[in-house]
Amino acid sequence: DSDDVVALKRAAAHAAVAEIESGMLVGLGTGTTVSLAIAALGERVLAGLRIDIVATSRITALQARAAGLSVLAFDTRAGVDLAIDGADELDPDLRAIKGRGGAMLREKIVAAAAARMVVIVDASKEVTALGRGLLPIETLPFAAGFVSRRIERLGAAVSLRMAGSAPFLTDQRNIVLDCRFGVIGDCEGLAQALSAIPGMLGHGLFLDEIDAAYVGRKDGIARLTR
Ligand code: A5P
Repeated sequence: DSDDVVALKRAAAHAAVAEIESGMLVGLGTGTTVSLAIAALGERVLAGLRIDIVATSRITALQARAAGLSVLAFDTRAGVDLAIDGADELDPDLRAIKGRGGAMLREKIVAAAAARMVVIVDASKEVTALGRGLLPIETLPFAAGFVSRRIERLGAAVSLRMAGSAPFLTDQRNIVLDCRFGVIGDCEGLAQALSAIPGMLGHGLFLDEIDAAYVGRKDGIARLTR
């Protein structure tokens, strides 16, 4: 990222973190923008904010502990008050593609458990329609070929995400299929079709989870709501 982009991400992250109040259980997503929010949260905790967090990935849990945050195991009996996360693409209706960091399955679970979800992005993530880039899909390794063919039938070019010479594995030790659909006309229809494929564990379409977005733009922070 250029310094300019980092500054826009940081400004968006700080704006979202300002929403957090003592007593909250905060869900933290994954990625470079979230890591800036973790730093901002660490400063607020030093200044007296009392919160607990749940993390959507091992890397986020590590970063959060290093920043002095109290990290709890995710437990559905304790309601998450606010989920804060990044996104890879965000459309004007606050629908997003997530998962280029590979954490979209846990991110969606925490988003679903949260009373509110706020995303933090810089303006380069804003799109008029989703599908400009890849749609990541976490898949059971056993079903890699089967799920790939089903996704191809839905119109995508599918590639297995690699980490060096071996397949990339998620925190749950599943694979990720990066799928190029091009502009997605019917996001709800695609989400339903994907969810109907056995072995498809989690796709990166977040269509109704996001309540608000802070977008770092050159002319300031935009707060978008539904
Ligand atoms: C992680 O799985 C993703 O959903 C991230 O939220 C997304 O990739 C945004 O990451 P950056 O903040 O690093 O752009």
